[in-house]
Amino acid sequence: MSKNYYLGLDLSTQSLTAVVIEPASGDLQQYSTNFDISYPSYHTTDGVNIGDDPTEVTVNPRMWIEALDDMLSQLSKTGLTPHIQGISVSAQQHGSVYLNALAATALKRLEASKSLLAQLMHIFSRDASPIWMDSSTTQACTEISSTLGGNEEVARLTGSVATERFAGPQIRKFWRENPAGYEKTSHIALISSFITSLLIGRLCPVDAGDGYGMNLADILSGSWSPAAMNAAAPDLARRLPGLVIKDEIVGKVSPYLVSKYGFDPLTDVVVGSGDNPCSLVGLGLIGRPQTHAISLGTSDTCFGYTRQFANEKRSIGHIFGAADGHYMFLICFKNGSLAREQVKERYGLSWRDFSDILLNAPPGNRGRIMLPWFMPEITPIVLDPAVARFGGLKEDDAKANVVAVAEAQAMALYRYSEWAGQRPDRIIVTAGGSENRGLLRIIARVFGTAVESFEVKESAALGAAVRAASCCEKQSGNLTSWNELIAEFLNRGAVDVISATPEETEIYRHKDGLLHVHEVCEQYALGKGGQPGKAIRIFKQQFQV
Ligand code: XUL
Repeated sequence: MSKNYYLGLDLSTQSLTAVVIEPASGDLQQYSTNFDISYPSYHTTDGVNIGDDPTEVTVNPRMWIEALDDMLSQLSKTGLTPHIQGISVSAQQHGSVYLNALAATALKRLEASKSLLAQLMHIFSRDASPIWMDSSTTQACTEISSTLGGNEEVARLTGSVATERFAGPQIRKFWRENPAGYEKTSHIALISSFITSLLIGRLCPVDAGDGYGMNLADILSGSWSPAAMNAAAPDLARRLPGLVIKDEIVGKVSPYLVSKYGFDPLTDVVVGSGDNPCSLVGLGLIGRPQTHAISLGTSDTCFGYTRQFANEKRSIGHIFGAADGHYMFLICFKNGSLAREQVKERYGLSWRDFSDILLNAPPGNRGRIMLPWFMPEITPIVLDPAVARFGGLKEDDAKANVVAVAEAQAMALYRYSEWAGQRPDRIIVTAGGSENRGLLRIIARVFGTAVESFEVKESAALGAAVRAASCCEKQSGNLTSWNELIAEFLNRGAVDVISATPEETEIYRHKDGLLHVHEVCEQYALGKGGQPGKAIRIFKQQFQV
């Protein structure tokens, strides 16, 4: 067997997935493990632990160590590990991991005779890693914003306004609440750099794809910002990893991986990144600003590639680095698949039923609107969640609620992605929800753009594998482009393309259409506007429903 396989590992909110590719043949193999099922002793629900205060969402990082060890063991049993030439990690973004002074030495001395966890049990200065779903840091955000001269300035400097789930505010809250714990912290990793460190047996840098999602970097200079670090916590610079602004190799696999799992000692490890920057690669969007992606996973995100910064007024959206050293824009919604699942479960439906209801529904749901804030929301910020229904949407009407949740999510994606500037001429939908044709139909109607989905749904893990391949092949003088590398995997199998008629789209986009009604309902629910009754009446008259 030749040796040109590449491994992408994606540590998402609910699972760890490995995708192994061989670019020359187009071979792709995939393995996955679910945290709730495989690691019950951590008592996670959907991969996370929600605190008594529902805005606090954490994970014990030891669970991720166990999952990685088990996944590497599973891969070694396939016989593939000696043929893997490069590895890269994708991970849920923003989650921070707090390590003490023992970490560097423990990583260096890993022995194959013991498990990773047994040897790394005591390397943490904090047992709970706050993850992207945590929104408990509003006070820290306010303080950071006021120190740096207001949110517009924070956004101009770091690519985003001070944002609850980002590591900077999370670090500030930790320093405030547990100064002794902060004192004992010698390194703060993001999840992507933490998992990468486990692979190379050494603490390693973060990339700008993930690192810009911390409110700590100056996105113009591509380095940590002293002002932003000082605004977050004292003496932070020495605790942060290095920051690399485009893909590079950060080391070889550690002797632990070689002797325990049969990896070649020359296997390169490429800097890790966030799941969204990896999906950008896995969907073939590097260098293609006209195509945007919608990822329907635990979080729903909308993102795209850009060579310049989108709109300076980044009140909702974020700028992260892209793998080639340019940028991506992103907006994120917390009530993604878990909100859809709540509706599906509430009415005892299967995913098939859910999709069929959407495929058979006329557009506009007769002016009935849901704001699906089952848990605290990120876009817009809702810390005290409640599901709101308008326009006569009755809680016991299963079909109307299924349509209402799907339309509300698609309309929020449309309205808030306006910030990114240009509208796309093509949309690719990925992650678990992209299997649901009904959801694709609703997105196509609202956006008025053809929507595609690919057979490979694991675009983050695939993107990580392609990042490994691109970087390693470049190093050996092979200048295959990103999109040539990915093409083989995107063109396989059926591509689902769903479009909508202009008449269907008009029901949302007309000045009195459902997007307007959605906005009025949202403003009302946020305490920023009056009752939506009039807007709903006008909608119904206009479209005779
Ligand atoms: C992006 C975000 C989520 C996580 C989890 O800003 O918070 O999409 O990356 O997938």
